[in-house]
Amino acid sequence: AKLLVLHGPNLNLLGEREPGIYGRTTLAAIDNALQIDAQSAGHNLESLQSNAEHVLIDRIHAARTDGTAIILINPAGLTHTSVALRDALAAVSLPYIEIHLSNPHAREPFRKHSYFSDLALGVIAGFGADSYRFAMEAALAWLDKHTA
Ligand code: DQA
Repeated sequence: AKLLVLHGPNLNLLGEREPGIYGRTTLAAIDNALQIDAQSAGHNLESLQSNAEHVLIDRIHAARTDGTAIILINPAGLTHTSVALRDALAAVSLPYIEIHLSNPHAREPFRKHSYFSDLALGVIAGFGADSYRFAMEAALAWLDKHTA
């Protein structure tokens, strides 16, 4: 199956950005590890990071017809602000897993609300770069159960 990984704004700076909160692992290292996990399980994976909301929205629209089976998404700051990105996921009605490196519930109050969690298959947060690994494991298990 085809898996799509989407990373929101500022995640291109992972490794240097507030390492006390987000860790020292780079986005390239995270994407490489996900790629290996997906390929070992016989799947295809595409990753995209963008600082632009519309690029993420356009990519989600394209996923409607490009064979994407499941989306793994860290909406980053858009988690707490973007009705439009949420609406894009609802519009294509593809299953998705919400990911965060940090635990937003343990941080500022404005991070407690997510526009994504209620529509997600599930949410994995708080384990640093490992959140992506655990989300991939969850995605692979979901695909096993839901695809032929
Ligand atoms: C984040 C948490 C968000 O609150 C924040 O705006 C981010 C990253 C995370 O992965 O922990 O940019 O999504």
